Amino acid sequence: TGPELFGARRNACGFDLTAAPDLEKIAAARAPFAETVFEAAPMLAGRAAGGLRREVTNPATGARVGFVTEAGAPDIDTALRLAEPWAAERQARAEVLRRAADLYEAEFGAIFALLAREAGKTQADAVSELREAVDFLRYYADGAGALRHPCRGIFACISPWNFPLAIFTGQIAAALAAGNAVLAKPAEQTPLIAAFAVGLLHRAGVPVSALQLLPGDGAVGAALTRDARVAGVAFTGGTDTALKIRASMAEHLDPGAPLIAETGGLNAMVVDSTALPEQAVRDILASSFQSAGQRCSALRCLYVQEDIAETVLEMLFGAMDDLALGDPWHLATDVGPVIDAEAQAGIAGYVAQARAEGRVLKELSAPAGGHFVAPVVIKVPGIEAMPREIFGPVLHVATFRAVDLDRVIAAVNATGYGLTFGLHTRIDDRVQQVVAAMRVGNIYVNRNQIGAVVGSQPFGGEGLSGTGPKAGGPQYLLRFCKPPRPAADD
Ligand code: NAD
Ligand code: ALA
Repeated sequence: TGPELFGARRNACGFDLTAAPDLEKIAAARAPFAETVFEAAPMLAGRAAGGLRREVTNPATGARVGFVTEAGAPDIDTALRLAEPWAAERQARAEVLRRAADLYEAEFGAIFALLAREAGKTQADAVSELREAVDFLRYYADGAGALRHPCRGIFACISPWNFPLAIFTGQIAAALAAGNAVLAKPAEQTPLIAAFAVGLLHRAGVPVSALQLLPGDGAVGAALTRDARVAGVAFTGGTDTALKIRASMAEHLDPGAPLIAETGGLNAMVVDSTALPEQAVRDILASSFQSAGQRCSALRCLYVQEDIAETVLEMLFGAMDDLALGDPWHLATDVGPVIDAEAQAGIAGYVAQARAEGRVLKELSAPAGGHFVAPVVIKVPGIEAMPREIFGPVLHVATFRAVDLDRVIAAVNATGYGLTFGLHTRIDDRVQQVVAAMRVGNIYVNRNQIGAVVGSQPFGGEGLSGTGPKAGGPQYLLRFCKPPRPAADD
């Protein structure tokens, strides 16, 4: 348990996508933004010079969503020179963050349009993404009130495209709650949502000198992590990128500068013969194919006990046939595109190889046009046969015998990753055995393994999956503060 930073708390209520009035409300609020040409550019406390200007397109249709002007080297320098930690006292900061949360909720029409058009998010994903962003704002606002330690200074917040609102906002909200100045570097694939969000944070009252936006590719992030004026880095993205950032920080930054890194995973689920097949199949489907598998938490390798493998797989393949693939603008779409042509080609090449080796057990058909990858199930002997995190709708399946459960746990631990793990069983002792042995950040029992809820399910991994502390948990804000000085006689 952490310090008593948080009082009574409520999570955002979101929308009920099974209720016609909510669906009508969403469709009406999004409609004015169906054709809007959005703009993103550096948002600085001084004049922006601007670098490359390029078009941003919809991954499902190829249509224009807007334009981004990326940050050039002079913009990075301006941002670093003019950044000022947020001087307001902590309760005032908290109030501004709560106001921002209200603005995010009020602007749901534009946000849902951007999430669908720029990031390829289905409506279900967009609803949970907005809720998570709002929850982060309110949760860290609550935590700010009780912080006793000063800010660190300038924080670089570097985020991925797969949660372009929630993770982008979560990093920023935590750094701001602690009083830091933030330089926000969104993923190159999703600058428009980032610019829209920063606009809302400024409107809520965050000073521009405390929150500046630097759109651009990895080079912009790299420039920040080698500038000695940066006091800490919050990063979410690939494990390889985190390792590069760590090396760069070790060379250039104060040795005490924190790197909070949340990275990739090779996540497994075990379904034993006591599991309820209907429930397991529903959870396998969501864990593997929701968000087109583009979640760090997504299920990559399913272990199903051999006695029930045939039943579970038959039911799973039947359920896959009911998935609606297509443009996420349509409210009924279950699986949208992957983020871009590069991701599509990488995953398609991997699946083609498995197909050539006769290991594809089930594959749907991808819609024509757009960056679609059809959900697919591939047979593997075990997780050790998986080369890396395949960031798309690709589920690997292996079978196991009850006597081999320890071997399965050892193989999962041996990957070196440790993000999420799912277990379906009705044996209590087995739950205890697995929970004690698995080296992962989040274990989910008899449910899906995605969509951690801020404040209730703090999220973060071990080993190659991250440094901790967990996002949406009570320790997170403390890393954005200077540690207390040791007492004189320590
Ligand atoms: P990525 O590592 O390619 O990029 C993430 C961010 O880092 C982007 O903003 C990118 O521009 C920037 N970047 C790239 N090179 C950099 C460098 N040398 N220095 C500084 N910044 C640099 O990751 P991605 O493709 O955007 O996201 C997908 C990955 O993120 C997956 O591996 C996924 O598992 C992981 N992820 C992890 C979590 C988590 O909470 N653990 C959540 C979401 C995504
Ligand atoms: N927090 C996100 C999830 O749990 C990454 O899926």
